[in-house]
Formats: sequence, C-alpha cells, structure tokens
Amino acid sequence: MKLSQRITHLTGGGSDGWDVFYRARRMISDGYAVTELTIGEHDIRTDPSILEAMDLSARQGHTGYAMVPGTDLLRDTVAARLQARTGVPTTRNNVLITPGGQSALFAAHVAVCDPGDVGLFLDPYYATYPGTIRGAGAVARAVQTTAEDAFQPRAEQIEAAVDGAVSLLINTPNNPTGVVYSRETLDDIATVCRNNDLWLISDEVYDTQVWDSNHISPRTLPNMAERTLVVGSMSKSHAMTGSRCGWVVGPEEVIGHLINLATHTTYGVPGFIQDAASFALNAGAELEEQIAAPFRRRRALAVEILEAQNTVGLIPAQGAMYLMLDIRATGLSGEGFANALLDTHAIAVMPGESFGSAAAGHIRVAMTIDDDRFATALNTICEFAADLAEQHAVTA
Ligand SMILES: Cc1ncc(COP(=O)(O)O)c(C=O)c1O
Repeated sequence: MKLSQRITHLTGGGSDGWDVFYRARRMISDGYAVTELTIGEHDIRTDPSILEAMDLSARQGHTGYAMVPGTDLLRDTVAARLQARTGVPTTRNNVLITPGGQSALFAAHVAVCDPGDVGLFLDPYYATYPGTIRGAGAVARAVQTTAEDAFQPRAEQIEAAVDGAVSLLINTPNNPTGVVYSRETLDDIATVCRNNDLWLISDEVYDTQVWDSNHISPRTLPNMAERTLVVGSMSKSHAMTGSRCGWVVGPEEVIGHLINLATHTTYGVPGFIQDAASFALNAGAELEEQIAAPFRRRRALAVEILEAQNTVGLIPAQGAMYLMLDIRATGLSGEGFANALLDTHAIAVMPGESFGSAAAGHIRVAMTIDDDRFATALNTICEFAADLAEQHAVTA
C-alpha cells in the first residue's frame, strides 16, 4: 500500500551520523562499560517533591481528560513566568500546554506553514528540526552558521535563504553547540524577521541553563511578540523529560488555532502531570538552579581542562548541557573521531555531523555524568586527540 510522502520523507534518510550512538547503545546492552556522553538527559531523576505533587494530584482524581489547552493553573503559571522574564504582557490565552517541547515545535510549524512553504532552521541543529518542519508539510531549509563565528547566525546568511520562507526556527541556549545568542545576534534576527515578514519560532527549552549572562527571549524585542512563538518545556529545567510537558506561547489568535489542533491530535496533557508542572514552576528559581548546577560545575571543569591543552578547541560554552569540541586538528571527521574514541576508550560522544554539516569536524559532549568521571573522560578525549594530531602532523 502507498504511504504518504509526508511520512516517508520525514527523515532525510541515510545514516545521518547516528551510527556511533546506536553502536554505543549496543555495546552497553552487551555488557561493556561505556562512558555515555551522547544524550541530553540529566543524571538525576525528577525531584521527589515534584513526584509527590504528581502522586497527590492523581490520587485526588486528576486522571481523567484534562482541559485540552491546559489547566487554568498551569497556563496562568506559564504566562506569569514568561511575563516576569520578558516584561511582555502574557495571559493564559497566550499559552497552549503541549506534550513536551517537541510537540510544541511541531504545533508551531503547523500553525504558520502551508504545504510547500519554506521553514528555515540554523545548522548545526537539534536533530528533529528538519523532520519536524517536513512533518508540518513545509520544506525544511538550513541556514549555515560557522565555527569561526562561534555558531552565532549572521543576518546576511539568513537573508540569503529567505526566498519562499515563512518561518525561522532558532534555539538559544543552543543544542548542540552550547552557544547562547548575543543581544546583537537576536536584534539582527528580529530585523530579518520583521523585514521579511517571517514568524520566529524560538525554542527556549534550555532557558534556565545560561552560565555567564541572562537568557534573552526574542519575544521581548521591538514588535516581535506579535510574530514570535516561544517553545518551552519542563524537560530540561526540571529534569522532567519523561513527563512530556511543554508549551507554545504566542499571540492569542495563534493559540486559539493551536487549541483546535490539539483537540484533533494530542487531546491535551494528563492533569496530574500538569499539576506536577505547576508545582515545580511555583517552587521557584532555587529548584531550577539546583537542577542546572551540575552542568554549571562541569562546564567550569571543562573550561579548565580545555584551557590546559591546545589540540581540542572549545566553542564558547555559555549554556545548555553540552560542549561542542573542535577536533579538526586530528585530521579526522567528527564521525571518524567519535568511532575511534568509542573503539579505543569506550567513550561515546556525538559526531558534529549528526547535527548538520556546519558542525563537521566537531564532537558534541553531553555533560551528563558525575563530575569525576566527566573530568576523566574529557582528559582522555584531549590526550587521545593530541596523539591523533601528532600522528596527523607527521603524515600530513
Ligand atoms: C533544542 C531542543 N528542543 C526541544 C527538545 C525537546 O524537548 P522535550 O520534547 O523533551 O520537551 C530538545 C530535547 O532534547 C532539545 O534539545
């Protein structure tokens, strides 16, 4: 039987650089001790206080259908949070609660893209981005950023790609690079969006993990609230990846349509999960800082280790739970390096190529194991890279 192109063409096809990840998973299930630095999943579980709120809600009967747009409590809580962080007036009518940030990304693209419209995204990118845009029926078009610009996008590169585009998807703090877009970068992006009448879909799921500055949401920039859809999530800020709770925040009219979409797709998010999320968000900044603290610590450790050597380059790590390391001095691709590292030292990292062509010759390291093992693994990566670079210099 024929299947739709929308589903069969969802992923780009090919190996797409995830082979090393699956190989590491197989080694682990075969009993090998692999140091896993691939996936963006905390090494702590959801806080017991949040689980208690979830349990209480479920036992009090919040196990039936919940309100499709989200509970009033959670929508109000998210609205108040965004208003406090951005100063942009926000009410529950600007908020749709979704099953995680991923579903919010999909909903946002369905809201603004017609079939055949171009949805822009920036390379390197979070792995699901092109498939999400294609899944919404649009054409996914990548805009390159470069390691030399520390992966900050340039307005002229976006301008050069806008033909046929209706939306631009950005992510700051960024997965996979760990880069936080500067105020100037965001101003430039906003100008491109206003000049070309683009929707800005702003993925801010790492907004609580910013190391040296404060998170800036482009929704705060002049005349941007009316054309920005913010994607948020409990996954990273509260170690609730498995709870599948996120949101889209945007103009009321868009949220109205997205409620219709939710009625015909997800039919909402479980009430006891939403109550747990409301509890977690109202628990305040201290809990969020506690959850972000291990990454803040490990990033400081990483800077120290990487400053003490000169083979591996560090893209300025300003946020999120990842480091993007430049291993081009070894003469290997990111994929070649990651495979060799797994074979030689049983350390699993993601090749930069898994996240698009702009991060070729890099590896992404997730800071998701305890500090001692993390420091040991990083030192091993640096030593391994130094040996390879020396051999490369001899043969080159
Ligand atoms: C950049 C980015 N956006 C969105 C998501 C999706 O998060 P979730 O669906 O768990 O909220 C992730 C998950 O890793 C991510 O890294």
